[in-house]
Amino acid sequence: MSNIILIGFMGVGKGSVARQIVKQSNLMAIDTDDIIESMENRKIKEIFASDGEKYFRDLEKQVSIWLEQSVQNTLISTGGGFFKQENLKNIGKVVLLDSPFDKIYERIINHPNAAKKLKKRPLFQDLEKAKELYDERSKQYKALADVIVDVSDRSLKDIADEIIQKVEK
Ligand code: S3P
Repeated sequence: MSNIILIGFMGVGKGSVARQIVKQSNLMAIDTDDIIESMENRKIKEIFASDGEKYFRDLEKQVSIWLEQSVQNTLISTGGGFFKQENLKNIGKVVLLDSPFDKIYERIINHPNAAKKLKKRPLFQDLEKAKELYDERSKQYKALADVIVDVSDRSLKDIADEIIQKVEK
């Protein structure tokens, strides 16, 4: 089986959905942001603050090459900008978690750890700028997706069921 790659905007729930799919299947999961934080032994926030976005994107590139060359049969959740890697479609089946911007924001601010969830995301510091980024990326996400799953107002179980069923086809 090829890999499954979850893409979508910051805070849409890629990590939570990945954990739910793991519960419901025999897949193992990895996350591109987690890999980068391990490589660098520091948080994404610190990487952006000390070395800037370009440096972070170069790390994503390194990860994308490794994924394409060395990873199989795995569920891969990604940072919200990882979809820009040019080899994305060679890595596996691309599943977009789709949701309107206001639902994503609602999901973040209703989280018990909302302040932390926002603080750790350098590109979500200004609401207007985040919305602009969402608008800019929306079509690009859709153009790359093999499968699009609407995740707004749905249970994790429901979302995971739909993904498992659609990727098996
Ligand atoms: C980013 C999303 C983040 C993280 C980094 C950049 C983006 O991941 O990779 O802050 O460009 O959208 P999440 O989607 O998990 O927030």
